Amino acid sequence: MLVDSFGRVATDLRVSLTDKCNLRCTYCMPPEGLDWLPKPDLLTAGEIARLVAIGVERLGVTEVRFTGGEPLLRREIVEIVAGAAALRPRPQVSITSNGIGLARVAGPLADAGLDRVNISLDTLDREIFLRLAHRDRLPDVLAGLAAAEEAGLRPVKVNAVLMRGVNDHEAGRLLRYCLEHGYELRFIEQMPLDAQHGWRREDMVTADEILGLLAPEFTLTPDDPGERGSAPAEIFLVDGGPARVGVIGSVTRPFCGACDRVRLTADGQVRNCLFATEESDLRGAMRAGATDDDLAARWVAAVRGKRAGHGIDDPSFLQPVRPMSAIGG
Ligand code: GTP
Ligand code: 5AD
Ligand code: SF4
Repeated sequence: MLVDSFGRVATDLRVSLTDKCNLRCTYCMPPEGLDWLPKPDLLTAGEIARLVAIGVERLGVTEVRFTGGEPLLRREIVEIVAGAAALRPRPQVSITSNGIGLARVAGPLADAGLDRVNISLDTLDREIFLRLAHRDRLPDVLAGLAAAEEAGLRPVKVNAVLMRGVNDHEAGRLLRYCLEHGYELRFIEQMPLDAQHGWRREDMVTADEILGLLAPEFTLTPDDPGERGSAPAEIFLVDGGPARVGVIGSVTRPFCGACDRVRLTADGQVRNCLFATEESDLRGAMRAGATDDDLAARWVAAVRGKRAGHGIDDPSFLQPVRPMSAIGG
């Protein structure tokens, strides 16, 4: 088991398949992109399969989520998903994607055993999308969402980061759109994980503000208060339910105390937290000939040192050197 010194057990493995992306969301990376990881540094599909198998078969991982960058940019995505879904005990297998390319690959992914997808959608306005993501790809994202629903990758969850003066006027519109299409929308507080290090707390649209933006149009009541568990989203019933909306208040309503996550970066480093300051190099160990037992032992040690929380409010807080796109969303 992957247990830390506070007794939290990591059962949710998030694997970044690439740091590359075909969008340039301002809260993530600059328009010119980043210095991508050199290809030889990336885990191969075979190495990913080996590490995921160690996680599931020996270390108690029950959920595997593939992220990026944009995970669908990995050519071997279908085979990687199939490998994870074939493990026993069978883990839940999901993807967090920007949706581009999903129109083509949702069916094959579902056939390969993918259970569900979370897709980023911050605006329904093509011009705002262009300004926000620096690429004119809104139609591809909407087509990807529809394809995911069609392929049965349910519930299709939508992630929206609201930014003041950019898309915060669209909160109600986004929720209406998702309700109409049967997607579960979650609004997310922006975190200090952008490559440009431009995050400022006072610019962040908080969970309270998000609820305030929705209040004129919708009646929201907490769903199962106290049942949030390790889930980042607080769920609300919309107008009495069954429709739901989530708010992920990572900054103002942190869920670190119940965190059950561990991450593997695209270059094979274990990170015990999004905001970890240290990583453990499984790729190097693996390429130097480590056995499965050795790798499992390193992984256990890496999780043991997990800190109590992200500490964004501590005066000594330092943003991680790696941006979100390289850590895995
Ligand atoms: P499910 O609820 O299981 O579908 O997944 P999820 O919401 O955890 O996954 P997703 O990849 O869609 O992440 C949504 C948002 O949750 C991200 O944008 C982050 O803001 C936040 N998040 C994900 N993982 C972490 C984490 O380890 N710590 C914190 N603080 N926030 C996280
Ligand atoms: N803060 C909060 N969420 C972020 N995401 C990317 N960068 C940030 C950030 N700085 C979101 C994306 C995607 C998910 C993986 O993380 O919108 O939905
Ligand atoms: Fe790409 Fe996701 Fe970053 Fe947007 S948030 S640029 S979709 S990695």
